[in-house]
Amino acid sequence: MATVSRNHPWWQDAIVYEVYPRSFADSDGDGIGDLAGVRSRLPYLSELGVDAIWMTPFYPSPLADGGYDVSDYRDVDPRLGTLAGFDELVADAAGYGIRVIVDLVPNHCSAEHPYFRAALAAAPGSPEREMFIFHDGRGRDGAEPPNNWQSVFHGAAWTRVTEPGGRPGQWYLHLFDRGQPDWNWRNPAVNAYFEEVIRFWLGRRAAGLRIDVAHGLFKDPGLADVTEQPLAHRPSAYYHRAELHELYRLWRVILDSYVPGEFPGARTAVGEVWYDSPATLMPYLAETGLPQVFNFQLILARWDAADMRQAIEAVEGMAGGDRAPWVIGNHDVPRPVSRYAAGLGGAPNDSAPLPRVGDPELRAGMRRARAAALLMLALPGSAYIYQGEELGLPEVVELPDEARQDPAFRRSGGTARGRDGCRVPLPWTSTGSSFGFSTGNRQGGHAAPWLPQPGYWGHYSVATQIGDPGSFLSLYRAALTLRRTHPALGRGSDDDPGTPLMTWQDSAPRTLCFTREPGFTFAANLGQATVPMPPHARVLLASDPVTDGKLPPDTAVWLAS
Ligand code: GLC
Repeated sequence: MATVSRNHPWWQDAIVYEVYPRSFADSDGDGIGDLAGVRSRLPYLSELGVDAIWMTPFYPSPLADGGYDVSDYRDVDPRLGTLAGFDELVADAAGYGIRVIVDLVPNHCSAEHPYFRAALAAAPGSPEREMFIFHDGRGRDGAEPPNNWQSVFHGAAWTRVTEPGGRPGQWYLHLFDRGQPDWNWRNPAVNAYFEEVIRFWLGRRAAGLRIDVAHGLFKDPGLADVTEQPLAHRPSAYYHRAELHELYRLWRVILDSYVPGEFPGARTAVGEVWYDSPATLMPYLAETGLPQVFNFQLILARWDAADMRQAIEAVEGMAGGDRAPWVIGNHDVPRPVSRYAAGLGGAPNDSAPLPRVGDPELRAGMRRARAAALLMLALPGSAYIYQGEELGLPEVVELPDEARQDPAFRRSGGTARGRDGCRVPLPWTSTGSSFGFSTGNRQGGHAAPWLPQPGYWGHYSVATQIGDPGSFLSLYRAALTLRRTHPALGRGSDDDPGTPLMTWQDSAPRTLCFTREPGFTFAANLGQATVPMPPHARVLLASDPVTDGKLPPDTAVWLAS
């Protein structure tokens, strides 16, 4: 939806919809979603009421990690479209007032990237190898990895190469899959290369960048052993290094150099930064740093009022939702419906058991995910919605092992469930072989979706939900419409800079209540007993039916006060 002109950049209160292109819509019937599929669904996104889409990687890739292994940063994977098709997507989206954010993957590329292939073909110590982190091994004949760093996807973070002469040689670092070699950010040539990539996409009118593993990139130059395996949240040998901030200052200068023109609005960048404390987060949000970093606190929080309130206060106190947009899900964590049903906070590579469709606790999960959506969309600032969240899709837990694609599943020998369950292609229609995911027909019909859809998928489809006022989709649409028109919502009113963006109100245990000016109250009941609603003039929106001024368990309301 076109952002009404206000005195602030569009992204400060934007609703951004995360598109996982391979699973969104398939226009040519090959079972893989594509850019033309996204274009064909722009009317849907416009009616939903989003300001922008973030496209996760659509670049050429051997798919060692769902496209986060990029073999060409300046092209479109032929299975997903063409560069001209990207330009058409941006142009068509602009017609709906929707901006397009692209994913920048600077920590690592694909082992198929020409620079990495050149590095393999070149000698140790060569400029080609200096683009990556190659090192001799330890122990007899260098047969042991250079240090004890572990991959996020399990196992050693190093792989040994065979030198051009055929003998076993050096090792290269990959914090993720072995098909994802880490760039050497201490080499200025890497910096220069990424500047070109950034300018390439901004020049094609991308409205911004989502920066993958933005807390990674720089590694301890001494490659010293670690005493415990670093978690992404804390500064360590390879996360949150001080050098990052100089790099982001340079990128900010590039972003700000794109002046509003034909397509209005400043460019943004939102970093994927997992953090444990204000001290870790704050340097990213320096005045001259990245415009935004994700705020994962609502993903990490359990369905618990104290946990949720703490999560919200932590971010509000540090940065605010305009610089640190809210999210309750993404392509790396279990779907909110299933997470909340199990009473869990989410984390990537999470393996705790999740309920199946038909299990009674999933009903509570549905109610909680609806209430959580109203909570997120009532908070000050910007928020991201992951595709399918608006349909209340559960995590698909019953995927057969042979269908799973996530390297985390493979590398852990199946002990980590992996992230495929939140990436199953969307159901658009209630019936049909792919529930409307594939529209085009190849000769002999269309191929099966790249991840199998469960038989019950049609029940969650857009077609099933669209005319039903009680559906998830109707709730999201209503919330996004109200959010756009209510002066207290989004970033809130600019009129009086002294007015706090939100004010917590005293409320019963296991409930949350805050007000925003003018005239808006949010209340949620995360407990087991029905409680009275706070004083109000009118219910604007409820996550589930409410009567007689009472708030049932697992319900949230937007009230006019
Ligand atoms: C980010 C992405 C995730 C990917 C990883 C490595 O966390 O969101 O999907 O596996 O980076 O690129």
